[in-house]
Order: sequence, then C-alpha cells, then structure tokens
Amino acid sequence: MIHKEIASYFKENYTNKPTIIKAPGRINLIGEHTDYNEGLVLPASIEKGIYFAVASNDKNRIQVETFLTQPEKIVFQLNGEHNIFKSFWGNYFKAIIEILVEKEYPLKGMDCVFGGDIPIGSGLSSSAALCCGFIYAITKVSDKKISREDIALIAQEAEHKIGLNCGLMDQYAVLFGKKGNAFFLDCKDLSHSYIPINLEGYSWVLVNSNIKHNLAVDSEYNKRRVSCENIVKQVQKHRPEITSLRDVTLEDLSTVKNDVSAIDAQRAKYVIEENNRVRKMMKVLTDGDANAVGAVLKEGHWAMSKEYEITTSELDALVKIGENLDGVLGSRMMGGGFGGCTINLMKTENLDTGIKSMLKQYKEQTNIDAEYYHLAIDDGVKMFE
Ligand code: GLA
Repeated sequence: MIHKEIASYFKENYTNKPTIIKAPGRINLIGEHTDYNEGLVLPASIEKGIYFAVASNDKNRIQVETFLTQPEKIVFQLNGEHNIFKSFWGNYFKAIIEILVEKEYPLKGMDCVFGGDIPIGSGLSSSAALCCGFIYAITKVSDKKISREDIALIAQEAEHKIGLNCGLMDQYAVLFGKKGNAFFLDCKDLSHSYIPINLEGYSWVLVNSNIKHNLAVDSEYNKRRVSCENIVKQVQKHRPEITSLRDVTLEDLSTVKNDVSAIDAQRAKYVIEENNRVRKMMKVLTDGDANAVGAVLKEGHWAMSKEYEITTSELDALVKIGENLDGVLGSRMMGGGFGGCTINLMKTENLDTGIKSMLKQYKEQTNIDAEYYHLAIDDGVKMFE
C-alpha cells in the first residue's frame, strides 16, 4: 500500500505528525475535448491516486520529496526560489507556488512526501491529481480556507503555465468525484450532478496501450483548441452572441464553411456531436441499457480517430480487437489523446478470457505489452485515514 510507505517514510525523515491526503486520477466515460469548448463531460474519479504526507514546519520553506517516479527532493523558499531540479513533477509544483505567491497567498513552511499509482501519461490525469492534491495540501497546512472551485482554477492555471491549454474537466473530476458515480459537468456554467454507473452483469476495464503521451510538449492538443476558436470567430460574424462552440449548431457550421478551413470545420463538427454523445450516454446509463452504452463508446472512439484525429494506430487496434471479441460491448480511448488507456465495457461472465484475448491480440499486432486495471470509482480529493 503506497500511502503506508509514504507515511512511514515521512515519519522516519521528518519530525511533525503528517496528514495524509489522497488525490485520485480520473477516467472519462464520454465528452472528450469538449471542456474547453464550454461543453459537456462525464468523467469519474478513481481508486488509483497520488498520496501526500504533509505537515507544517517552521523553516520558511516548502520541502517536497518523492522516492517513487523520478525520486528527488526540491526545496522551495516561500518566495518561490528553489534548488535546481530535474523531475517533471517539480515543474508543476514550481508553477503552483509561483501562482500562489503572485496571488499573495499566505504560504507557510511545509514538509511533503508524495507518491502514487496512477500511470503517468496514460490519460488518467496524473498531473491534475498532482496539482489539485498539492494545492489542497498547502492550503490545509496554511490553515487557509479555499473552495474546491478555486483549487481547480489554480491547478488549471499551472497546466497553462507549463504549456497545456486544457479545460477544467480533469481538475473538477479529481476534486468533486464521488464513489460509485460518474460525474456530469456542464463546462459552460460548471454546474454538475452525479449518476451511478453500475450496470448489472457488466464490468468496466481500463486497458493501457502503453503508448505514453506528453500533451504539454505535444502541441497537437493546443492546435485542436485553436481550430475550435477559429470557427467561433467566424460564427460570431453572423451571431455575435456566440462565445464558444457550445452554442454553435451544424447549420452555423454550414453557413461559415466557405470562410474556414475544412480541417477546422471537421474539428468543430466533432465537438458538436461529442456533446450530443454525452447527452445520449446520460440517457442510456440511466436506462441501464448496456448495449447502447457500448455503442456510444465505439461511436466516440471512431469520431476521435477519424474526425478529431487524436488517437494512434495502437489505440485504434485495441478498440478494433474489442469490436471483434465476444463480451466486449464497446470501448474508446480516453483523455487528451495520442496515447494512454481505453475504457471498455465488458460482460462480467467472460471478463477474464476477454481481457486475456485482448492483450494477446494487441501484443501480436503491435509487439507491445498492454496492461489492464479493473475500474473502481472512488471519492475526489480527501484526507486519508
Ligand atoms: C486533457 C485535458 C482536459 C480535456 C481532455 C480531453 O485531459 O487536460 O482538459 O480537454 O484532455 O477531453
């Protein structure tokens, strides 16, 4: 158990009694690349997470250490200065501390040891967990009240600083998720609700293609966002009240089609239809219609592959393998794209043989070993006993 290792490492190396905080990763049932278009999303927070052992110190500095992925210790002075570091995670914490200093946030000295079991760059939002958990920890140690909405905004600002112009889906899912439930978020007004996703006789499985992405470096993510903004600008010439793709219709798209690039129009069409898939998924989940849920997953995947063009040949192979396997109702890649996991809805009765066969065929076709995880939906960021 990673949280126990972290707690005991903290106790051996630091003096004050630590508080343990868990920040989960997230999956997404449907609604990909809709969040930054003020659209709809249906994610959930998961059991895999990042654990932080934290306590105040009276040293005027924030000392952060991990002995898991990229072991390193970084000491940030309260004014933001720090020692030279190599680890990718240091960039996130550096950005967060800079933002908090800029906002004149009352920082206090803190010792922090963290680590977790979310695979990095796999579409499970390890960076949102890292950022939201760290901000939550700092504010706890500083006795400063902060809303979860504000934690989400600061975490998003840190991502933007590092170079990923992401929306708010990941941060909201990590902060507001609820055990056993999918989390429906309307990114236009940030209103949200919960919906149980248990379909009797069926199981959710994540398959990691083991193709890793780095969205902040891979500017393809940001390019998609620019395409969407280009369309909004053109539609605004006809309908000045429009502020995002959320309120753009397919008719609007055909009105501006001669003034925009074919690729931008194709991207916008995907986003409009993806919002509809979220609406459809809400309905079929509520009806408990597993076959229809599977169909929405598949439709979403192929739209990401052919229209938004954010999948890879390996992820397409995984989904195709599932389509030809008995007992797989549907699957799709999740997250920002260009690698990571698929989410699969499978019949529980042939789960083991189904998974085995999927991994075997994937290995034959790509020469890559995939991994799988049974999906368990857990609460959002919280103190951990
Ligand atoms: C990444 C981003 C999110 C969202 C997804 C795609 O995870 O951080 O804001 O855009 O990609 O749905």
